[in-house]
Amino acid sequence: MEKMEKGRTVVLSNGMQLPAVGYGTYKAAGEEAVSAAFDAGYRYFDTAAFYENEEAVGRALRRHPREEWQVATKIWKTELGYDKAWASFEGSLRRLGLDQVDVLLIHWPKASPDDPDWQRLDRETWRAMEEMRQQGLARTIGVSNFLPHHLESLLVTANEPPAIDQIEFHPGYLQEETVEWCRDHGILVQAWSPLGRQRLSGHPLLAELGEKYGVSPARICLRFALELGVMPLPKSSDPGRMAENLELFSFSLSPADVERLRGMEETGWSGEHPDRERVIL
Ligand SMILES: NC(=O)c1ccc[n+]([C@@H]2O[C@H](COP(=O)([O-])OP(=O)(O)OC[C@H]3O[C@@H](n4cnc5c(N)ncnc54)[C@H](OP(=O)(O)O)[C@@H]3O)[C@@H](O)[C@H]2O)c1
Repeated sequence: MEKMEKGRTVVLSNGMQLPAVGYGTYKAAGEEAVSAAFDAGYRYFDTAAFYENEEAVGRALRRHPREEWQVATKIWKTELGYDKAWASFEGSLRRLGLDQVDVLLIHWPKASPDDPDWQRLDRETWRAMEEMRQQGLARTIGVSNFLPHHLESLLVTANEPPAIDQIEFHPGYLQEETVEWCRDHGILVQAWSPLGRQRLSGHPLLAELGEKYGVSPARICLRFALELGVMPLPKSSDPGRMAENLELFSFSLSPADVERLRGMEETGWSGEHPDRERVIL
């Protein structure tokens, strides 16, 4: 893969290499958008059963040789449990038109904040996912929106730890406790909504740093994720912005500016939290 050869990669605990930046397909996508993202240079594509776009994503990617791209999908929170996880994943494979995905994640740790059975359901889902990996149907397995206590619960019965945790991460909402926990346990953090879904647009600090480095505020957000060892998954439907969001290797942020971004007040949060009802902001 061209992007990988340039050394712009991250390596998972299981040795698998991923590009340092992936393409988020939620509400993007459209076969046309995924094709445009491929043409722009993306080689890692994040989808989910919940996004209802796996067919389009699969169609766009299958036009290119299989070894040139990676795809991740997810098991939705109402499909947790051993049998339901298998059924969900078989549906994803069918819709994607593949016999193997590169990454499979549990989308959220709980069906609802007050589900008393979430620990058992997560563990059973994980047992199914370990089998999927052993059978070569998913090369890597991981989770999404898991906080340290969800991860600790999973590890009680897991035979292998998750290789990835995909969480909301952007300036103004860093979830540093989870990022640190993952770093200590060799788990790659992926950033969903790495741009704060435009809720950060016009923030004075991002504007100031954009001016200083001669780049857009969006590129400041994405470079910031890279500085902290986090793999961002920006979504764009616009080919120009898709390309812009990959241009992250011609500049770097000074440690002092990274600290300023880390110290930014809480802002741009989606309102979604695995243990609480959604907050409409
Ligand atoms: N695991 C989970 O629970 C979860 C939850 C949410 C999202 N995700 C994943 O994370 C991906 C990204 O998150 P997201 O889609 O919520 O938000 P995001 O990537 O933070 O933001 C996307 C928004 O930013 C705009 N944008 C993109 N590039 C830009 C640029 N260079 N300058 C200005 N605006 C720009 C896009 O508009 P245009 O399209 O017009 O460019 C779109 O409105 C999703 O697609 C999905 O794959 C996962």
